[in-house]
Amino acid sequence: MKRIQYDRYGGPEQLRLDEVPLAEPGRGQIRVRVMAASVNPMDWVIRSGRVRFMTGSRFPRGLGHDFAGRVDAVGPGVTRFKLGDEVFGATGLKPAGTFAEVLVTDASTAVIKPPGLSFEIAAALPIVSITAWTGLMDKARLRQGQSVFISGCLGGVGRAAVQLARSRGATVIGSCAAAARDEALALGLSEAIDYRSFTVEDVRKRFDVVFDTAGALSLNQCDALLKPGGKALHIVNRPATFLRGLVSSRHETVFGTPSEAGWAGIIAAALKGELAPKIGEIVPLTEAIPAIIRLETTGLPKGKVIIVPPA
Ligand SMILES: NC(=O)c1ccc[n+]([C@@H]2O[C@H](COP(=O)([O-])OP(=O)(O)OC[C@H]3O[C@@H](n4cnc5c(N)ncnc54)[C@H](OP(=O)(O)O)[C@@H]3O)[C@@H](O)[C@H]2O)c1
Repeated sequence: MKRIQYDRYGGPEQLRLDEVPLAEPGRGQIRVRVMAASVNPMDWVIRSGRVRFMTGSRFPRGLGHDFAGRVDAVGPGVTRFKLGDEVFGATGLKPAGTFAEVLVTDASTAVIKPPGLSFEIAAALPIVSITAWTGLMDKARLRQGQSVFISGCLGGVGRAAVQLARSRGATVIGSCAAAARDEALALGLSEAIDYRSFTVEDVRKRFDVVFDTAGALSLNQCDALLKPGGKALHIVNRPATFLRGLVSSRHETVFGTPSEAGWAGIIAAALKGELAPKIGEIVPLTEAIPAIIRLETTGLPKGKVIIVPPA
């Protein structure tokens, strides 16, 4: 079967589409025939070796975490899934390899895909939605009527955060490129601010929650935006924000962490159409490497890149 993988950490030139033997699932694992997978910035962050202290040094290493597909083998001890089940999910940080025809993954990383969600939409959901859910619902305990500021409101995580916050009955203001203002307003934002001309003075002390999905705000800017008692969530790991989080309950570095309640909330919101990822491009696995590199180096297309089986 075909799989995108690499033999050492480094630049995009390390990526290859290889033919590899089909693996059997071990205890607690399932094998999934991948029908769709989606690309996230963490794919190239990991490939670059920047987080090798977490991802180790075993190669060849597969690329990709988000997946949707059909179970085609079940390992010993797995009772939640059977052959033919349609599933979706995200592998953990260290295991990877969803940009492949077939994936072996821990059964705990997958949930049943409802028939109302296509494989492409399901594959676009996991990492961005789990991260938004972990931040807004688990960490900030967002309530109806609260106000949220979301930086990078049209990125993968930002868009999911806007949609989940709106579905919870919160008011949302966000930052994005000036040219995308209409798209942001159509998503339900009350105001969309150009991130290139943004000053906190315009929206000082107005928010219960600041969700900096772009890693664009300083700690001081977050403090200035927050009401007393508010909370800033950071997902782009920077030493200063991480250290402040250790000594202040006002700032928290969030790592997307799946939970039963989170999956249930994400699936319910997606089925109602309240959570709808934007698809930027759908490419077959055999043409995926140039598409991944284009996204990494140009930020295009806007929207999720979805990888589907070879034509
Ligand atoms: N901690 C976790 O568990 C976790 C989970 C998922 C992702 N992440 C990290 O979170 C970040 C966002 O992920 P993503 O999937 O949402 O990425 P993405 O889809 O690339 O979105 C990033 C967004 O930020 C916008 N942006 C760029 N510069 C900005 C600025 N100065 N102010 C406001 N917005 C700005 C971009 O707009 P333009 O298109 O106009 O440039 C884009 O819409 C990545 O660094 C990723 O690695 C962390």
